[in-house]
Amino acid sequence: SNNQVCDAWNGYDEVQCGIQASSSSKILIKGGTVVNAHLQEIADVYVENGIIVAVKPNIKVGDDVTVLDATGKYVMPGGIDPHTHLSMEFMGTETIDDFFSGQAAALAGGTTMHIDFVIPVNGSLSAGFKAYERKAENSCMDYGFHMAITKWDEVVAKEMEIMVKEKGINSFKFFMAYKGSLMVNDELLLEGFKRCKSFGALAMVHAENGDAIFEGQKRMIELGITGPEGHALSRPPMLEGEATSRAIRLASFVNVPLYVVHVMSIDAMEEIAKARKSGQRVIGEPVVSGLILDDSGLWAPDFVTAAKYVMSPPIRASGHNKALQAALSSGVLQLVGTDHCPFTSTQKSFGIDDFRKIPNGVNGIEERMHLVWHTMVESGKISPTDYVRLTSTECARIFNIYPRKGAILAGSDADIIILNPNSSFEITARSHHSRLDTNVFEGMKGKGKVEVTIAGGRIVWENDQLKVVPGTGNVSIPQLRLQDHLVAVEEVE
Ligand code: URP
Ligand code: ZN
Ligand code: ZN
Ligand code: ZN
Repeated sequence: SNNQVCDAWNGYDEVQCGIQASSSSKILIKGGTVVNAHLQEIADVYVENGIIVAVKPNIKVGDDVTVLDATGKYVMPGGIDPHTHLSMEFMGTETIDDFFSGQAAALAGGTTMHIDFVIPVNGSLSAGFKAYERKAENSCMDYGFHMAITKWDEVVAKEMEIMVKEKGINSFKFFMAYKGSLMVNDELLLEGFKRCKSFGALAMVHAENGDAIFEGQKRMIELGITGPEGHALSRPPMLEGEATSRAIRLASFVNVPLYVVHVMSIDAMEEIAKARKSGQRVIGEPVVSGLILDDSGLWAPDFVTAAKYVMSPPIRASGHNKALQAALSSGVLQLVGTDHCPFTSTQKSFGIDDFRKIPNGVNGIEERMHLVWHTMVESGKISPTDYVRLTSTECARIFNIYPRKGAILAGSDADIIILNPNSSFEITARSHHSRLDTNVFEGMKGKGKVEVTIAGGRIVWENDQLKVVPGTGNVSIPQLRLQDHLVAVEEVE
């Protein structure tokens, strides 16, 4: 069935179906600058059987070892993307990247783990979890799951406990938008927050006011604005700010930590800044589209071009992106995701007469590491150690997979990238590895290229060639994932 999965993917002949990775299980990375969130040093890295065995200068090895010369290059933990939607059924269709193609794209861009969102089936968490276990069977890199909570009753409350205690899920997302489908009201939000608190699980929110958006959308249609620009006009930043503020205050009322996904606006970011300054535990996750792009594309005269920028919360007017970058470099925001949620031109065209029917989502899983390096490190806004923290280590810490992931340390998983700061990258739909026929970052170029990706001790990306094998990825080990997010919050029982 591995071959079947791969043959169905007609994108790239570099993929070796059913063939075990040809590279040796022993790898020495020589002479590079090893960057961790806590330290940068020149050292060799020795890998055996998928695990980092040693990190120190001048490691000597026998000739059964594959040696990679990293002189003048950065050796860093593979990226961890905290926010993806592979094979997600959404808005009447399904994202075009499955776990295999999305992960192959990720690996080509230097990301070696991602955390996806299990969407319950008719509100059932266990049915949703089973469905995602199946979706993930063809994985070629490690992954984890968050879970969305879309309705509330005794069964859901009970199943949350099973997910935390038996399935290793330690984070739950509540959608405050998408009225009529995924949206929850404040009552559910409070019940969910309390339940998260009781387990030490992390509550996450998609913060936009869904009722007001519904109103805004009707207003646009009444005005005759049916194109993709109506998407941005119907859900302005104030609605993201309002929901972010509300979620923060409700989390404070319940006294539970909060993680705000895809922070897209100054309005939302400032609410997070204010809460953090007051001592509240709030984590803010910008995504690469929000950090880099602006909303001008939504006004492109060609529908297909404009529709590819449609995601929620919307990509904002120029200025929000720079402010989010600054918030990242100053520590107001803590890590970078993608919200990789790819829909093809054909799928986007479901909304050709009505922007409300354009499936929401943009790509990013393959582009994040390059764009963050170029925009933040190459430009001097952050250091390489900051880069590792924002793209890998912080995510591993928050979701309790550190130091197994997110570090180049003896004993950690051999998920490693070699980045050449003097080489350059260019992003095009023609050359990317996602199944998507467009790219929201089309034509962007920059300095700093991931030349080698090692995942689970295998060289999966080298010389612009992917060598990925379906079925070689693993879910992160459940016992490792249950982190008490309440260590700083007293139990009030
Ligand atoms: O437009 C988006 N973001 N689509 C994915 C679902 C979500 O809200 O994260
Ligand atoms: Zn094949
Ligand atoms: Zn969302
Ligand atoms: Zn998302």
